Amino acid sequence: MIRQQELDRAAAIIRSGGLVAIPTETVYGLGADALNAQAVARIYAVKGRPSTSPLIVHVCSVEMARSLVTDWPQSASRLAARYWPGPLTIVLPKKPVVPDIVTAGLSTVGLRMPAHPAALELIRRSATPLAAPSANRFTGISPTTAEHVRRSLGDQIDMILDGGPCDVGIESTVLSLAGPATLLRPGMIPLEELESVIGQPLAKAGMAEGAHPSPGMHARHYSPRTPLLIVDGSLPPGRGAYLWWRRELEAELKLRLGDTAEAYAHQLYDALDRADQAGLDWIAIEAVPQAMEWCGIRDRIQRASARD
Ligand code: TXA
Ligand code: MG
Repeated sequence: MIRQQELDRAAAIIRSGGLVAIPTETVYGLGADALNAQAVARIYAVKGRPSTSPLIVHVCSVEMARSLVTDWPQSASRLAARYWPGPLTIVLPKKPVVPDIVTAGLSTVGLRMPAHPAALELIRRSATPLAAPSANRFTGISPTTAEHVRRSLGDQIDMILDGGPCDVGIESTVLSLAGPATLLRPGMIPLEELESVIGQPLAKAGMAEGAHPSPGMHARHYSPRTPLLIVDGSLPPGRGAYLWWRRELEAELKLRLGDTAEAYAHQLYDALDRADQAGLDWIAIEAVPQAMEWCGIRDRIQRASARD
C-alpha cells in the first residue's frame, strides 16, 4: 500500500516540474505535469526518446479529459463509460492548453484514465493531467514492477511510487477517434467488443498484425538486448532462454508463461526481463495462438524480435 505521505510528496514533485514513476494497471509510467512543457521535455531526455514520439496524457476524470480536447464525441462517452478507468487510450483533437511537445507536434492527444488507485490519487492531488510514457529507456522492455523501473531509470528520476506488479502487463489499446475510428495499437481489449461499443467497424487499412503505423510506433520496440526469436518446436544451438506456454523444450533457462492471453500478458515483460538479465546467447519465445485475444501479445512479441 502506498502511504498518504508518499502521495503528497509525489504530488509536490509533479507540481514543481519533476518526474515520478507511477504504477498503472498496464505498465509503469514515467509521469510529469502534462501542462508544463519543461517538465515534459525531461521525460524525453531521461528516456532517450525521439521528440517525434507522442506521449499519452493520463487523467482522473472524464471532465479532465474533456478539458484537453476540442471535441468529445458520443463514441468517446460510450468508450469512457465502458472502459475507464482502464487500459484504453483515446486519441482526439487537442486544445492549445496541451503543449506541442506532449503530442510531438501533432494536433491530436492520446488520453487515458488508468485503473490504479495510486495513479488516480496522484493525478487528483497534483490537480493536473500527467503525461506518461512507459518508464523504460527508448525501445527497451516496458516495466511491470517498481524494481524494473529502479534498475533502468532509478538514478535519473525524482521518485518511484511502488504500487506492486501491474495487472494487465502490456500497454493500453490505442484508438483514434480523430476521424474514422482507427486502431493504432492493439492491447488486451477485444477488438470486436470495441466495435460493438462504438457501433461501427474499426478502420483496418494495413492492419495485418493488428497495428496501424502510428507516430512513435517503431518496428523494433519493447526489446531486450539479447537477440530474440520466435520459435515453433525447435531451439537454436548454444545457451539460451526459452519462454514457453505449451511445448516444453530443453534450454539453459526455461520460463513458463500462462496459457490464457490474460495470464500470459501479465507475465510476459517480467519473463523477458529475467531472460535478458541471464546474459545468454539468445531468447526464444514459443509462437502464441493466432486467436483475436492474443493480437496485442503477438504485436509486442513481433516488435521485440524485430531487427531494425
Ligand atoms: O499502457 C500504456 O499506454 C502505458 C501506460 C504508462 O499508460 N503508456 C505507454 O506509453 O505505453 P508509450 O509512450 O510507451 O506509448 C504511447 C503510444 C505512442 O508510441 C503512440 O504510438 C501512441 O501511444 N500515441 C500517443 N499519442 C498519440 C497521438 N496523438 N496520435 C497517435 N498515436 C499516439
Ligand atoms: Mg513505451
